[in-house]
Amino acid sequence: MSRLERVRADAAVLARLARGMPRRASHSDALAAFYGKQSTHYDHFRERLLQGRAELIADIALPHDAHVVELGGGTGRNLEYFAERIARIARYDVVDLCAPLLLRARERARTLPMLRPIEADATHWQPGHPVDVVMLSYALTMIPDWRAAITNAVAMLKPGGTLAVVDFHVSPPRAQDGRVQHSAFTRRFWPWWFAHDGVRPSAEHLPELCRALPRNAVVESTARVPYLPAMRVPFYRFLGRLGPD
Ligand SMILES: C[S@@+](CC[C@H](N)C(=O)[O-])C[C@H]1O[C@@H](n2cnc3c(N)ncnc32)[C@H](O)[C@@H]1O
Repeated sequence: MSRLERVRADAAVLARLARGMPRRASHSDALAAFYGKQSTHYDHFRERLLQGRAELIADIALPHDAHVVELGGGTGRNLEYFAERIARIARYDVVDLCAPLLLRARERARTLPMLRPIEADATHWQPGHPVDVVMLSYALTMIPDWRAAITNAVAMLKPGGTLAVVDFHVSPPRAQDGRVQHSAFTRRFWPWWFAHDGVRPSAEHLPELCRALPRNAVVESTARVPYLPAMRVPFYRFLGRLGPD
């Protein structure tokens, strides 16, 4: 992509972000209206905004012939982060409610035949049999009933299976021992900033994930935000295992 094309692509995405998440009768219609015009440039812009995905995926223990489900998987871009380990994946279900992003996933599936785009709600859809890995990458903050999405994700895991999550968050006013404490400004600013685009960084997601899967590892970090050079947004990576008992 030339520099001019990159600037044009960013301008199209930023224009949509500035208009915010539109109000529609259904969540899927709102997502289609929000992502429709930015779907071509989605991956390029999110490469810089959605940090930690490559690191999360590198840490996932992947058996041979793995069945991986990505809830809120959008364009299916995350499959490519598995790099040479893609050969271990027999099936990669990208479950999403947004038709324009799934169109990109379908294009990607032409060269990655294990990728199966599925138009469905992450809070209900089930694969039919237990799977090795479920992933939620920057999806929990966009799913209104995020508790149902966590419950649904855990319900589809095999014993010993992995739930891998990466997303924005903020700490509660008093963080638990061992967790990062965010300033009052950070805790108020990011939920306010993202709310316009239907993204809800929360202090509740991470504790709920840890309750759902007590065998877990958590990494907290911060990331740069495109066009906000002085700011860093907090995000976490969570890897939880379903006990075999
Ligand atoms: C910020 S995008 C992340 C996409 C992808 N996981 C990634 O890392 O690039 C959030 C995704 O969640 C999807 N989403 C939101 N609510 C959903 C729901 N209830 N069921 C399925 N997908 C949903 C959106 O359509 C969008 O594709």
